[in-house]
Amino acid sequence: MKKIFEKIWELAEPYLNTRDNKIHTRISVKLAYQLLDKEGGDPAIVIPAIILHDVGWKTIPENLHLVAFGPKATSPELNRVHEVEGVRIAKEILEQVQYDHRRIGEILEIIDGHDSREESLSLNDKLVKDADKLSRYDKEIFHIDIRRYNYTYEQELNRIRSHLEGWFFTKSAKKIARKELRNRQEELRDTQS
Ligand SMILES: [Fe+2]
Ligand SMILES: [Fe+2]
Repeated sequence: MKKIFEKIWELAEPYLNTRDNKIHTRISVKLAYQLLDKEGGDPAIVIPAIILHDVGWKTIPENLHLVAFGPKATSPELNRVHEVEGVRIAKEILEQVQYDHRRIGEILEIIDGHDSREESLSLNDKLVKDADKLSRYDKEIFHIDIRRYNYTYEQELNRIRSHLEGWFFTKSAKKIARKELRNRQEELRDTQS
């Protein structure tokens, strides 16, 4: 990772210390690099945006997280708070590292709607949205989500399968999701045989 991205990660880390966000963000960053490689896009926008997209969760008490996100959420307005607070914290961090000021606006715009905005603004925005959701198909996150939602393996498998067509903007993300889904299905079969 480029030095400036490492510095942003370092400053983001204390805010990722909740909701397993350090793991989720690490995996999403890896996926964002894979998508940039296949789809194009500007790493100078996408990488800071994906590193910083969830820093706002740190401002929401952990006992409220499960009503704010996921399949059992009942208070979507709390979910919006993590975007708004995320923009505020991300701005501070980007200014602290003296990030290219011409790019800060676009990065913050992406963070502001990464969950609540259903349409995408640009290719960069698509890649951040896709990398974020794609992490749910990763083995480590899959198991975190099973515990978090108190789901069975099959229930979580059905959930991510049912969203495969609707969640993603890019072909590459859908392709990776399909492959990971097959891997999760095979793991389930292995435990049953
Ligand atoms: Fe988020
Ligand atoms: Fe996220």
